[in-house]
Amino acid sequence: MTLTRRRALGLLGLGAVAAAGLPGCSLLEATPQPQLLPSTAPLPKPYRVSLPLPEVAEPARTLSGVDYYDLAPRPADVEILPGLRTRIWGYGGRFPGPTIEARSGRRTVVRLANELEVPTVMHLHGGRTPPESDGYPTDLVRPGERRDYDFPLDQRAATLWYHDHRMDHTGPQVWRGLAGFFLVRDAEEEALPLPAGDRDLPLMICDRSFAEDGTMPYPSYPDRPGAREPYMGGVLGDVILVNGAPWPELRVARARYRLRLLNASNARAYELSTGGPLIRIGSDGGLLPAPVTVRQVRLAPGERVDVVADFSAYPIGQGVELRNLAGEGPQARVMRFVVDRDARDDSAVPARLSTVERLDPAGAAATRDFEFTSGSMHGGTGWLINGKPFDPARTDARPKLGDTEVWRLTSDVAHPVHLHLAHFQVLSVNGKRPPGPIEWKDTVELRDAQTVEIVTRFTGYRGRYVFHCHNLEHEDMAMMANFEVV
Ligand code: C2O
Ligand code: CU
Ligand code: CU
Repeated sequence: MTLTRRRALGLLGLGAVAAAGLPGCSLLEATPQPQLLPSTAPLPKPYRVSLPLPEVAEPARTLSGVDYYDLAPRPADVEILPGLRTRIWGYGGRFPGPTIEARSGRRTVVRLANELEVPTVMHLHGGRTPPESDGYPTDLVRPGERRDYDFPLDQRAATLWYHDHRMDHTGPQVWRGLAGFFLVRDAEEEALPLPAGDRDLPLMICDRSFAEDGTMPYPSYPDRPGAREPYMGGVLGDVILVNGAPWPELRVARARYRLRLLNASNARAYELSTGGPLIRIGSDGGLLPAPVTVRQVRLAPGERVDVVADFSAYPIGQGVELRNLAGEGPQARVMRFVVDRDARDDSAVPARLSTVERLDPAGAAATRDFEFTSGSMHGGTGWLINGKPFDPARTDARPKLGDTEVWRLTSDVAHPVHLHLAHFQVLSVNGKRPPGPIEWKDTVELRDAQTVEIVTRFTGYRGRYVFHCHNLEHEDMAMMANFEVV
């Protein structure tokens, strides 16, 4: 099988893009896909533990209107599967890490003190951050070192998250638990009557696998980065965690709830459904111009979608499963809500949510093409952008500060593509305008053999940033490149 794949990839070579135009072509089928890593621990029964809510971090100090947070990634032993201890690496020893609640325009500084035995890098995903604080993959914070990440947060309210971003090691380090929520709020959003307080729920969804001793093994090579065969296409776990708990349950009132859905999985995409209507109100980059009622929400690694679910539609006692229509068997379940009481609800979803400027591709200063494919690298196979593996010393695009550009992204197999700094709008998927309102995104999923055109404007900061595939195994196996805003 390996031989067949190698041979196919050899044939595919760097001309994989040609194959990408031929869906169903046998060479494409030979490209590695995400693989399930089976747990050897017995899978827990669903809906037996209650949904944890990550603690909200308190600033260590506030000086002249700047909030300073202390965050120490470190190992900790926690109970994830009932009755077993799991060694995690977590910010503050927690998985998910504490939620940072920040405000648009209010400078927030995170002082990271690395208490792990390995280097780490922290990145604020969705942040518009100066390059020195963006968590460039080689800006390592070594064991025992500290680093201040300085976030101006000159951006709208949105559900962001922070996670490890160490070059070649992001997959295993996030797998061990290095991820947390970072919510940006602003006055525009707070003026809306959306569900708030304990009816505004961050839900971090990720899959993991567990060994009998409770550990979360990651299929690494002993001597080099990347996931070992057959996991180079991505590592899938068989236990679905929400906020770090396996298939949890939450008791809810007969009222509206805002669910901030984040896919923090290494490689699994979800298609989430409660079986009833969901009102989509937000995306990676904050509120949509207007709500959209949907039956399901697709979420690729790195993406966020904010929805409002109205549990007043159900009688007391009713269980409402959040299911994953893209999964099978146990992986088709995510969590369960149980409606257990009546409650007063003053919330509403207004017909207009925000103003979203539509970027005009006609004003683009440049159009660039990026092909996301597998191919040979260092004598093996890896994941490449325009045929090249990540090289911190090579810059593939130099947009000018303030310029609008169109980027045409092409895939062989599925790749969730993420740009640092620059939020974007999707213009077309295989030539067709996507349905729904205009939205700001920072991660877009290319499905098999697709071309997705995005338009973005490079504002904020000059300097070097990365864009990459957010399937973390692909990212670690070099599907990343630099752009420099000049
Ligand atoms: Cu969420 Cu560069 O990553
Ligand atoms: Cu990012
Ligand atoms: Cu990828």
